[in-house]
Amino acid sequence: MLILDAPTTRSLLPFDQLGPALKNAFSQGCEVPLRHNHSIEVEGTESGTMLLMPAWQTGTYLGIKTVTIFPGNTKIKLPGLYSTYMLHDACTGRPLALIDGNEITSRRTAAASALAASYLSRQDSYSLLVLGAGRVASLLPYAYRTVRPIEHVSVWDINQGQAELLVEQLRADGFHATVAQDLESNCKVADIVTAATLSTAPLVRREFLRPGTHLDLIGGFTPTMREADDCCFDGTSVFIDTNEAPMKAGDLLHPIESGVINVSDISADLTELCRGGHRGRNNSKEITVFKAVGTALEDLTAAVMAYEEYRNRGH
Ligand SMILES: NC(=O)c1ccc[n+]([C@@H]2O[C@H](COP(=O)([O-])OP(=O)(O)OC[C@H]3O[C@@H](n4cnc5c(N)ncnc54)[C@H](O)[C@@H]3O)[C@@H](O)[C@H]2O)c1
Repeated sequence: MLILDAPTTRSLLPFDQLGPALKNAFSQGCEVPLRHNHSIEVEGTESGTMLLMPAWQTGTYLGIKTVTIFPGNTKIKLPGLYSTYMLHDACTGRPLALIDGNEITSRRTAAASALAASYLSRQDSYSLLVLGAGRVASLLPYAYRTVRPIEHVSVWDINQGQAELLVEQLRADGFHATVAQDLESNCKVADIVTAATLSTAPLVRREFLRPGTHLDLIGGFTPTMREADDCCFDGTSVFIDTNEAPMKAGDLLHPIESGVINVSDISADLTELCRGGHRGRNNSKEITVFKAVGTALEDLTAAVMAYEEYRNRGH
């Protein structure tokens, strides 16, 4: 069985190939059962959580991502989250590879957002505002660059030092990048606003968005997390990655609860976009919003790509 560590996995998942692989996977579909969510007691500190995310495609591959989240780890100076991906042959169950789960998650997430933006953002989107400067956010300019002619990137983070570090890295990689001191003024000039934070209060307000903007919301995956206010969903065209999004994302649950939108107002999901069932953006003035919560289909796609790419390189 192969073991693909983080640097190897990273090198096997370039965004210009991962995006088309995800498009193909969303078009074809695969089996994705509901994820398991188990609470694990830890003596003397907060309980941990274990998430199990399986997916398979009949006749080819099956895989399972395991994510452990142990909040008590911060006290003993260990990361709070670990993730691994186990890939198997779907005909025999034979284990094929154990792959770094963090790389799989962060790269497939950035690639999925860029894929959505290839349908939803204006083709002449040159400027990108990134909210957050963590694991996922730091990859977004690279993923977006494969689908849109991004020239300028501004980075806002609750921790300005982290935004400065990302800006430095982006400049070294050829982007014209700046730290966004003020969220409102930076939103007002961005063609695409993308957020991958841990925020529990709205960061982006509807009045910050000019006509033609694409808003991409990645961070909030629980009912208490928010990145955009209710009005961002009022009179805009709303898209989701899968139908799990309106069930668990605070960014959608709140405007649904307050009657700003109904689930039936959601224009399409990523499967419909990839299959050509919905054309995406209609005109250059429309404001589009994409809310993602992630799916095991994306993990399986990235894991298969890493495995096959490694084999293709003659290993
Ligand atoms: N939709 C998906 O498929 C998907 C996949 C992976 C991660 N995520 C989500 O994306 C978010 C970022 O994940 P990550 O792995 O990059 O995490 P990370 O910890 O590496 O980065 C989090 C970022 O959020 C910022 N932040 C922390 N608290 C904040 C607050 N209160 N307000 C604003 N910013 C704050 C941090 O400074 C940091 O830049 C998480 O919410 C995660 O669950 C979503």
